[in-house]
Amino acid sequence: MALLDIIIAPDPRLKRKAVAVERVDAATAKLMADLLETMYEAPGVGLAAPQVGVLKRIIVVDPARDDAPPSPMMMANPEIVWVSEETKPHEEGCLSLPEEYEPVVRPASIKVRYVDEHNEIRTMDADGLLAVIIQHEMDHLDGVLFVDHISGLKRNMILRRLTKQKKLSTSGKRHAVESA
Ligand code: NI
Repeated sequence: MALLDIIIAPDPRLKRKAVAVERVDAATAKLMADLLETMYEAPGVGLAAPQVGVLKRIIVVDPARDDAPPSPMMMANPEIVWVSEETKPHEEGCLSLPEEYEPVVRPASIKVRYVDEHNEIRTMDADGLLAVIIQHEMDHLDGVLFVDHISGLKRNMILRRLTKQKKLSTSGKRHAVESA
């Protein structure tokens, strides 16, 4: 397994639409395992392939918190086949938007169909945190970030902050090279 680099927003690679996986073969299963390892290392509760620069419809999630036993799920070509009328706000964050959190309103329960790491088609009902994570990760497959669900004013504020952070870390790196 290998740790992958997570792309930080704003970045045009996070705004593109990912393509469907033809079948989950050994290479795809390896990518799924690498995504999972990268997610746990971050640490995070979900990660989508476009966040590591791979434009494929693959997500990994694990809603287990704190000392709960891990319950990883790896999904290719996830499709939401049903959503509840009931919606719920939930404070969301994203590994591509570090240290930024805002409430996002989404359907409270969903039914999702996907292909698992063994190339088997599965259908699953999800609610609570799991439903939030799956919807958030699936958004990444269509180039949508959680900030695209909030007001433009808040979104611009967050993206400006992230842009500033990026400039700071780039100049820091340059400085480190110069002093080496
Ligand atoms: Ni995210």
